Amino acid sequence: MDSGLSDPLPPHVVFYPFPIQSHVNTTMSLAELLCLAGFRITFVISEHGHSRLAQYTDTLRRLSASYREEFVFKVVPDGLDPDAPRSDDNLWKIYDNYQKDAGSLFRELNGASPVTCIIADGLMTFSIDVAEELGIPLIVFRLIGPQCFWTYFNVPQMIETGDLPIKGEEDMEAFIRCSDLPSFCRVADPLDPFLQYIIAETLQTKRAQALVFNTFDQLDRTVLEHVRKHFPNVYTVGPLHKHLKLRLAQVSGAQSQVQFNSFWQVDRSCIAWLNKQPPRSVIYVSFGSLTRMTREQLMGFWHGLVNSGQRFLWVIRPDLVAGHEQGSEPIELRKATEERGYMVGWAPQEEVLEHSAVGAFLTHSGWNSTLESLVAGVPMLCWPYYADQQLNSRVVSEAWKAGLDMKDICDREVMQKMVNDLMVDRKEEFLSSTGKISKAAKDAVTEGGSSWESLDCLIEDIKAMRA
Ligand code: UDX
Repeated sequence: MDSGLSDPLPPHVVFYPFPIQSHVNTTMSLAELLCLAGFRITFVISEHGHSRLAQYTDTLRRLSASYREEFVFKVVPDGLDPDAPRSDDNLWKIYDNYQKDAGSLFRELNGASPVTCIIADGLMTFSIDVAEELGIPLIVFRLIGPQCFWTYFNVPQMIETGDLPIKGEEDMEAFIRCSDLPSFCRVADPLDPFLQYIIAETLQTKRAQALVFNTFDQLDRTVLEHVRKHFPNVYTVGPLHKHLKLRLAQVSGAQSQVQFNSFWQVDRSCIAWLNKQPPRSVIYVSFGSLTRMTREQLMGFWHGLVNSGQRFLWVIRPDLVAGHEQGSEPIELRKATEERGYMVGWAPQEEVLEHSAVGAFLTHSGWNSTLESLVAGVPMLCWPYYADQQLNSRVVSEAWKAGLDMKDICDREVMQKMVNDLMVDRKEEFLSSTGKISKAAKDAVTEGGSSWESLDCLIEDIKAMRA
């Protein structure tokens, strides 16, 4: 007999990531985890991102087959021409366009199906104004590590005490040196627009209901204690790429193969190449989705890698290097690359890092690459490019002892030495540290682990937001 009481509607959560590769991919892992918990998801994505996913992955088909109408995309324009690069100054244009359209977008979504909660990218806290106006709770998802968030949070104080703008490298003995500050903080003028933007976005976060990080407590315990004093509702649910795989496996009862949600054509031929290499013999080289370098820097890396004598797998994104014509490199580099190197335009990075042939990772220290390397237990050689990366590379080398920090140097001799330190001379020392971190990361996302429990809390807290 019908009791007359029906289950309440599942929560409806709108995800609102900044539409670049790394933010969309990681946010989608969190969205899928909430969908697995029975939530209805609307995932806002740019036309450009949506068409890239359709072109290069089976993400759209896979999600609609798994969750049907419970996971839907809301496709929006980003204000750029289809072929314009989604990097550098164009990112500001996207930001402005998203900001302009946020009010009408959320009104439309809430009108179609009342929204329980918005989970917005920490780069776009303008959405808090709209959420407040509509009476919808909003949670901020920061896609940087807590150390960087904490540094940004303290920038106003650093300006007040005169520590910023930096005057030089005079505090080289300190744990965090001037050169380790996020690049936006290394400016001459405290009114620099980037710096002001970062300060504003970070302080606005205090108006949100909660804050989510893609990290796990054991990795960032001390800094999280500081953050939690100012932000009482912090959820640490990472590493999300691993977390999603384990939860999917629990549901399906099998090892889950999540396909990467890529904006680029993935070249899987590198896996066949890796299969032929000895264990831990290859250094994987990749600088993420936004880094640009000069031809001179490319040559520095290339000579350093070749002179190290180690095997290497290198991701050269089509837009990575300005002013280099393929084939114009010195013949000895080409020959050495044919003998013990392999190059692709875009790799299945998570799979590459988990491959037994990979022994080290030359990285730009983006937060996702850092976490993926830690989970796989692969030591890093860090060449930070910008934003949070200067700080991440310092933490990798000094706090976690998980690699070496080249900082701003791109010198072939330094590189050659560091590659060999990492892969030969100090190999056991680094593998021992990364092995421990890898285990802690996996424990955190296993049932009963800190990130597993934090996600369960987030799920329950969003359920409680239903009016
Ligand atoms: C940006 C910022 O630059 C970074 O500083 C911030 O921490 C996150 O957002 P990005 O530069 O792309 O990201 O770096 P990262 O965070 O490391 O993300 C790159 C992603 O692309 C990783 O998930 C990685 O697995 C993936 N990737 C990269 C591939 O799948 N294949 C590749 O060949 C290269």
